[in-house]
Amino acid sequence: MKTAICYYSRHHGNTLKVLQAMADVGDIDLIDVTKQKAALADYDCVGFASGIYGFEFQKAVVEFAHQQLPQSKPVFFVYTYGGAKGNGAKTMAEIAAEKNCPVLGEFSCKGFDTFGPFKLVGGIAKGHPNEKDMENARRFYQEIQAACEGGMKR
Ligand SMILES: Cc1cc2nc3c(=O)[nH]c(=O)nc-3n(C[C@H](O)[C@H](O)[C@H](O)COP(=O)(O)O)c2cc1C
Repeated sequence: MKTAICYYSRHHGNTLKVLQAMADVGDIDLIDVTKQKAALADYDCVGFASGIYGFEFQKAVVEFAHQQLPQSKPVFFVYTYGGAKGNGAKTMAEIAAEKNCPVLGEFSCKGFDTFGPFKLVGGIAKGHPNEKDMENARRFYQEIQAACEGGMKR
């Protein structure tokens, strides 16, 4: 099973760290949405991933999904956040619904955050994603893989 995860990760590379843990246990291409387009039709399953900025997925990921996500493709969502995830992946779930894409699951964990005033106190969610977060991320992807492969056999 081949998976693409289309991501945006800039603040501290927190989201990318989580995705790299997932890529340890699966056949995953990590696609930076600011750098490349992708033939998402060629993948069995597509993930979208972002840090949370202003309570939402970064706009480039939302736009990428609007433009590139094929109809009916199984999807999942991954995000990291400092302490207030807001709407989380809600906008992404709406795009998936518009395109009749089944949502296989959602993973989130805290990510080190030094945005704005948090910088003055040395940041929040220090040390995250930590080893436990990575372990949870690996397990999550294995569940996604099982769900997607189950769907492919049906
Ligand atoms: C401009 C900006 C806005 C942010 N907004 C939020 C937010 O609304 N809620 C939150 O919990 N964290 C917020 N954060 C913290 C990030 O979501 C968190 O550090 C995340 O792990 C960053 O992911 P990245 O390192 O992959 O970019 C914000 C960070 C930045 C730089």
